[in-house]
Amino acid sequence: MDQIAVTGGTPLRGEIPIAGAKNACLALMPATLLTDEPLTLMNAPRLSDIRTMTTLLQSLGAEVTALQGGKVLAMSSHDLTSLRADYDIVRKMRASILVLGPMLARHGRAVVSLPGGCAIGARPVDLHLMALEAMGATLDLREGYVHAKAPNGLKGARIAFPTVSVGATENALMAATLARGTTVLANAAREPEIVDLARCLRAMGARIAGEGTGTIEVEGVAALCGATHAVVIDRIELGTYMLAPAITGGEVECLGGRRDLVGAFADKLEEAGIAVEETPRGLKVSRRNGRVAAVDVVTEPFPGFPTDLQAQMMALLCTADGVSRLEERIFENRFMHAPELGRMGARISVQGGTATVTGVERLRGAPVMATDLRASVSLILAALAAEGETVVSRVYHLDRGYERVEEKLSACGARIERIAA
Ligand code: UD1
Repeated sequence: MDQIAVTGGTPLRGEIPIAGAKNACLALMPATLLTDEPLTLMNAPRLSDIRTMTTLLQSLGAEVTALQGGKVLAMSSHDLTSLRADYDIVRKMRASILVLGPMLARHGRAVVSLPGGCAIGARPVDLHLMALEAMGATLDLREGYVHAKAPNGLKGARIAFPTVSVGATENALMAATLARGTTVLANAAREPEIVDLARCLRAMGARIAGEGTGTIEVEGVAALCGATHAVVIDRIELGTYMLAPAITGGEVECLGGRRDLVGAFADKLEEAGIAVEETPRGLKVSRRNGRVAAVDVVTEPFPGFPTDLQAQMMALLCTADGVSRLEERIFENRFMHAPELGRMGARISVQGGTATVTGVERLRGAPVMATDLRASVSLILAALAAEGETVVSRVYHLDRGYERVEEKLSACGARIERIAA
């Protein structure tokens, strides 16, 4: 297994291009299952999660061709050979459940393994299933698989989600495009990835209104057509790289960055004393004067502070002047990075869903272990600021969500290298 070695202490300066959003792309790819015409995605990120979704779609008989080194994904589902998503692939990635709604909507049946994914809490799929049942599907859970049927097609329904779920909103949204009649998704997720999916589906002929608000209305159509769609930029990658100069004291322009995608996060950075400036090419972030100030953070669904930036923000606050509190409200058990940061000299105590971080002057390099995707990059950020060398192991977590991380950071002066196993 590869490791990443970082020697900290260099302020980062330069520019970092931000890739297309992993989470948007993982929802857009299954949309190919809704039509027999080609769907092409531009600006796709080159990540192992995208390759996993490619393998899953190919196992169903879809054609997925990566062009331009993987930046363009040309897909077609005109000839599906299977409607069964196997455990062996699905267990690698939770987003695999997103093939369920589209297959069921277009073919009237689907068998999908219950997913695995990051080890950050229970993460059930009950809301996905509830939404599809409301649209008339019959579901049977047997031997770890969901057996779903809707022989006469899905029908429009009013679905009120008891909690906001990005994935369940996406699954229901895709299924509703081909359902008979009107579907209303109430308490829907408002994440930019949902907006991006709705835009792509609309380009495919779907009739959707209200994406980006808590109520999405979908009028079903008989069939969808092909389209070409550019994936929105990755707001989590953006936020992660915005933290790089914040933590090392430097200045980095994140190319393609948009403040509307990271509003609550950018506000927190400013509260901590980091400058965030909109430029014609993106967002420029800098830290000029001394230590950052301690701030309190509560994770919430969009437009609140994203749970996917909590670990990285914690890395920053480890060296803040004062005591910060981070409250995790989306996932239980999402503080596995805290003891690893502790190995680098951070002072963090976790009680239930709240971590209290007492800032220290300096972190020190240490051997640490990545436990999940965002935790792994928080350790890299901490290492960039730490004195001496840090070796992060289990970086396959990192490769799920960050493309060319060593290249992007070393282009700004970071001393970082991959040690191939
Ligand atoms: C997506 C993102 C993930 C991000 C998360 C929250 C993708 C591929 N992943 O995950 O990076 O951290 O949104 O912003 O887009 N829940 C249920 N039942 C369900 C579904 C969810 O109880 O059927 C709960 C979850 O356990 C969690 C909360 O709802 O506590 C939010 O989860 P959800 O928004 O569904 O996350 P994902 O779509 O899995």
